[in-house]
Amino acid sequence: PAPTPGFPLPTEHTQEAFDPASDFTSKWTRADAKQIMAQSDPTVAPGENSMSPDVTMPEIPEDFPTMNEDVWVWDTWSLTDENANQISYKGWDVIFSLVADRHAGYGFDQRHWNARIGYFFRKTNADPAKDKWNYGGHVFADGASIGNTEWSGSTRLMQGNHVNVFYTATTFYDIAERNAGGGGIAPDASIAKALGKIHADENGVTFDGFDHTNLLEPDGEMYQTKEQNPGFAFRDPYTFADPAHPGKTFMVFEGNTGGTRGEYECKPEDLGYRPGDANAESVDEVNSSGAYYQTANVGLAVADNKDLTKWSFLPPILSANCVNDQTERPQIFIQNEGGKNKYYLFTISHQFTYAAGMRGPDGVYGFVGDGVRSDYQPMNNSGLALGSPTDLNLPSESPEAPTPNQNGRQFQAYSHYVQPGGLVQSFIDNVNGVRGGSLSPTVKINFRDGISQVDRSFGQDGLGPFGYLPTNLRVGGEGHY
Ligand code: FRU
Repeated sequence: PAPTPGFPLPTEHTQEAFDPASDFTSKWTRADAKQIMAQSDPTVAPGENSMSPDVTMPEIPEDFPTMNEDVWVWDTWSLTDENANQISYKGWDVIFSLVADRHAGYGFDQRHWNARIGYFFRKTNADPAKDKWNYGGHVFADGASIGNTEWSGSTRLMQGNHVNVFYTATTFYDIAERNAGGGGIAPDASIAKALGKIHADENGVTFDGFDHTNLLEPDGEMYQTKEQNPGFAFRDPYTFADPAHPGKTFMVFEGNTGGTRGEYECKPEDLGYRPGDANAESVDEVNSSGAYYQTANVGLAVADNKDLTKWSFLPPILSANCVNDQTERPQIFIQNEGGKNKYYLFTISHQFTYAAGMRGPDGVYGFVGDGVRSDYQPMNNSGLALGSPTDLNLPSESPEAPTPNQNGRQFQAYSHYVQPGGLVQSFIDNVNGVRGGSLSPTVKINFRDGISQVDRSFGQDGLGPFGYLPTNLRVGGEGHY
């Protein structure tokens, strides 16, 4: 695309692949993320969506259905294999969600402090527009998991009926904080897994026999610790196999750059401006703006044994130093393009976690390269793949406190996860003031060569069925229990 007057050019990225064990970390630069504002329309009426419909999630209706009356539902993932196939197990589709009790006396925004992993199932041949997901309850028994709060992860079907649930073991120490929502003693966080069994019969799906293992705690070098930053992020494990490295199992996760909060210094590589760019910022300018407080990364780890109980950190595959503080729920999506495997790294991020001088909507961001570790090219030049309708000419806000003249759907959905076929599921947060806690209508993005477009012919004007997480691989037959 032609450069926008007044804006810098994006960083040049080769997409070249490196050995997963090498120390090349791709940078989502300020020059890249500045393309979001370069692509935003400065002339829209206040409160309209200022981004292209190609990267904007269609509007969710205010009268969305409640998925479950007893629990709020947010971050969600399917039962998968190591190649991100979504598995129908003995005729049942199974999904896992963070859930919190709707009737326990705390509000929707306190859900994080009370999160458990729950699951739902429905017949694989159900009508996604009519048949509800059946709630199966918590996956783990009370008090069984590592930590006192369960945050996001991924679930893999292993040999036979074994499942590995990878999750974030978060431990809060301050009960008042759990109920009031924030401000207290910083939590611990580790990445854990539980190996257990899935059972299916004509009535549905159950789990039992979970054995929990703690896998990873931040090292303080590559991945920031709680001691270095009480607001650190270390969570959201997603495991996968890479056809380029057969026999190995990798994990991506959300992290922050190691080091004491506030001590990071933004570097020319974090800015990524081309030499002589008249619209470039200087390193000093950026550092004096305080942008060094935002240091998100996407971490990589490799399993050291077949049981996946021992893991080693590798350097991060992506950093967003001086750009954004959170790159959450990362996933690797491999797509064959013209006979070649292209690796898409998707990750979700927020308005409020951008660094000084940067602006972008809540949504899912994507990066494409030739391998798990590569010089990732941000999708659509900026990184933004699918955002909530937002007027980026107005200041950034948080879901708890939207201003009246901003687009009422700026926080309509979050925690987008890209499924096979480009189907993107997410949860509803705030639609024009109506709070969610249910799965959004699934939307579809078509993408190739790092360019994506919302498919407005999918479903109704681009909105598919609510909570549409179809399976694409059948295991265990159907109806043979
Ligand atoms: C994303 C997220 C995850 C975390 C969970 C906690 O929505 O922030 O990173 O696991 O929510 O509720």
